[in-house]
Amino acid sequence: MSDGYGLLKGKKGIIFGALDDRSIAWRIALACKREGADFVLSNAPIALRLGALDKLGEETDAPIIPCDVTNDDEIEELMTKTKEHLGGVDFILHAIGMSPNVRKKKEYTDLNYNWYQQTLDVSAISLHRVLHHAEKSEILNDGGSVVALSYIGAQRIFSKYSDMNDAKALLESIARNYGSRLADRGIRVNTVSQAPTKTSAGTGIKGFDGMYTFAEKIAPMGNPSADECADYCVTLFSDLTRKVTMQNLYHDGGFVTAGISEEMIDDLAKLYSNDDE
Ligand SMILES: NC(=O)c1ccc[n+]([C@@H]2O[C@H](COP(=O)([O-])OP(=O)(O)OC[C@H]3O[C@@H](n4cnc5c(N)ncnc54)[C@H](O)[C@@H]3O)[C@@H](O)[C@H]2O)c1
Repeated sequence: MSDGYGLLKGKKGIIFGALDDRSIAWRIALACKREGADFVLSNAPIALRLGALDKLGEETDAPIIPCDVTNDDEIEELMTKTKEHLGGVDFILHAIGMSPNVRKKKEYTDLNYNWYQQTLDVSAISLHRVLHHAEKSEILNDGGSVVALSYIGAQRIFSKYSDMNDAKALLESIARNYGSRLADRGIRVNTVSQAPTKTSAGTGIKGFDGMYTFAEKIAPMGNPSADECADYCVTLFSDLTRKVTMQNLYHDGGFVTAGISEEMIDDLAKLYSNDDE
């Protein structure tokens, strides 16, 4: 690991969503540590039972605090415990997403509505809950920074992403709306729209490999890795981005503005060429 730039020296934070060493939150935690931050790690109790997070906790010297982000009491408890460990915090990472409909391969036109509500609750409304409890407990310092991870399915149709497309649209809206209310304290709230990344949540999507390859071939720079996403998030937590707020920021190697790539044109031409002509 490089020595970093000391961008987060003296900063404290809460990192939600590290499950295993492929998790984007895991990579972000390592990058935050490299840049000098102290933080607590949190995940749902059921995820903690797998035990993988202990390793990251040891590596980054971070306490692990269980919290199901759909449960207000647990979030309140998390804020109290975090205060005991760190005092106030300067940054929060929300890297949480889960859809029972996607997991169980339900088509968008045939959703289980209880699961749909779970998708929205876990993947989007949880950002609102976390910010609400952060404010209520007065844990978030003035000038702080909140980042939630999103996906371009919020703007465009990616059929296999099913109800997660809706969850990401809501997540981005909550970031904007909360951002406007925290702006007078210098606190910014942004979403980072990351390209397909090979993590547990990512690869659990039916058709993920196709989505990954499509993005890889269209994006002029190719898909960014979880570690590259981590470096970008570090800049957003740092003091170098003090007036960036209420934005959805694409971290996708240029995919969002690309039409088609030369490679894709050549590949398609080969695939659909008529040998008889
Ligand atoms: N992997 C991708 O292709 C990709 C692309 C763009 C955005 N994202 C987003 O990045 C974020 C992190 O996902 P990831 O790809 O690193 O996968 P991941 O599976 O490693 O992380 C998802 C995390 O959400 C946690 N979680 C689920 N339910 C929870 C609950 N009730 N309470 C607390 N935590 C809960 C899981 O335990 C897990 O740690 C998600 O918001 C995801 O949608 C992922």
